[in-house]
Amino acid sequence: MERIKRATFGGKISAVLVAAGSAVGLGNIWRFPYLAGENGGGAFLLIYLLCILLMGIPLMIAEFSIGAATRQNAVGAYRSLSKRWGVIGYIGILTSVLIMGFYLVVAGWTAEYTIHSFTSDLVQQSDINYHKAAFEAFITNPWKPILYTVLFALATHAIIVLGVKRGIERASKVMMPLLFLFLIVLAIHSMLMPGGMEGVRFFLEPDFSKVTPSSVLAALGQAFFSLSIGLGTMITYASYFAPKTRVQQTALEVSLLDSVVAVLAGLMVFPAVFSAGIEPQSGPSLVFITLPSIFSSMPLSQLWSSLFFLLLVMAALTSTISMHEAITAYVEEEWHVSRRAASWLGTTATTTIGIFASLSLGALSHWTLGGLNIFDSLDFLTANILLPLGGLLTCLFVGWVFDRKLFARQLYPEGRIGASYPIVRFLIRYCAPVVITAIFLDNLGVI
Ligand code: PHE
Repeated sequence: MERIKRATFGGKISAVLVAAGSAVGLGNIWRFPYLAGENGGGAFLLIYLLCILLMGIPLMIAEFSIGAATRQNAVGAYRSLSKRWGVIGYIGILTSVLIMGFYLVVAGWTAEYTIHSFTSDLVQQSDINYHKAAFEAFITNPWKPILYTVLFALATHAIIVLGVKRGIERASKVMMPLLFLFLIVLAIHSMLMPGGMEGVRFFLEPDFSKVTPSSVLAALGQAFFSLSIGLGTMITYASYFAPKTRVQQTALEVSLLDSVVAVLAGLMVFPAVFSAGIEPQSGPSLVFITLPSIFSSMPLSQLWSSLFFLLLVMAALTSTISMHEAITAYVEEEWHVSRRAASWLGTTATTTIGIFASLSLGALSHWTLGGLNIFDSLDFLTANILLPLGGLLTCLFVGWVFDRKLFARQLYPEGRIGASYPIVRFLIRYCAPVVITAIFLDNLGVI
């Protein structure tokens, strides 16, 4: 039964499509621009791209190969390969639950903004300060954002229960190219705004005086967050890949797509930010303030705004689905419960965290941990600690413990070892573990 279900999934949907659906999301369009804004623009972009190249792509290949070799959920996959290393799978599931908790909140905001675009009250004013005030009033409201968080969780749940089959494939096929096209149009529009070029310069010209150990860690964490790696999501998805899927090529294509979307998002956001004279360091609210004001200054504003936020909702949805799938597959297969029960458990756990994360921006803002509210703590703990840690352990496992022949067979299903093998192996075995450890130690002040 199990095998048949997995084979169907892998056979019907191309690997790149599902993996890119997971990778491209709010991480690229919401999180990346504000982190770049806070960490020196161009310098952050450069370090981010280096992290993708040296650690992100090899780690994605490593995760794909574990999933493809074992055809199990993240915990089962590690445990079937080594009892001791099973702990990486558990860390991954915990990370998925925590990320999805605050991700659902932001996804809920995009849903709210879609509805406000359709009713046109979002695009009545182009004054950026108006949008700033409106956004702050919305996220600190005690019940409205929670309503959207819960709705988003239920939408994810519905698709998970139905099984991630045709619906997602069809949606992704239409949605991805559309989102791409939109980003290009909006980036061009934004760059043509008066003063926009200053934003382009901020985003593309590296100023290394702004680089601190914590900005390097933020770039690493963002690279993993954006590629959906370091937590077993890609292991779970790869367990559904059709046999003979080319994992290296898939990882390369997904990473390239994901990076292009992030760069386009930066080119869309920063010119508008500079044109309107707001601070590029304004944090998580950046996109929600700049986008409505860009739209308001465009002809047919309501149409563009509605379509764009709808696409953002879909991009977020394909990402929440992937996190939920990792959790559901684990509960279903390891606890031997029905898919329906497993999904409910995942939905309940993540929604509960989401409600607290949402409240922590308003009513519960006094609940802090090390000076951070619940929302920011979840973001920091997952992206800056758990993902790099999960990534480090995964590289160590695949580089040093995972059977070499089994690994090679996943990379080259046709049997002939290709020229990329020594490079990929070197990156996974030495480069990634050493660099991740160095970044950690640097942040702890040890080196
Ligand atoms: N990569 C997704 C994004 O950038 C977020 C995500 C993280 C999805 C981890 C799955 C796992 O929006």
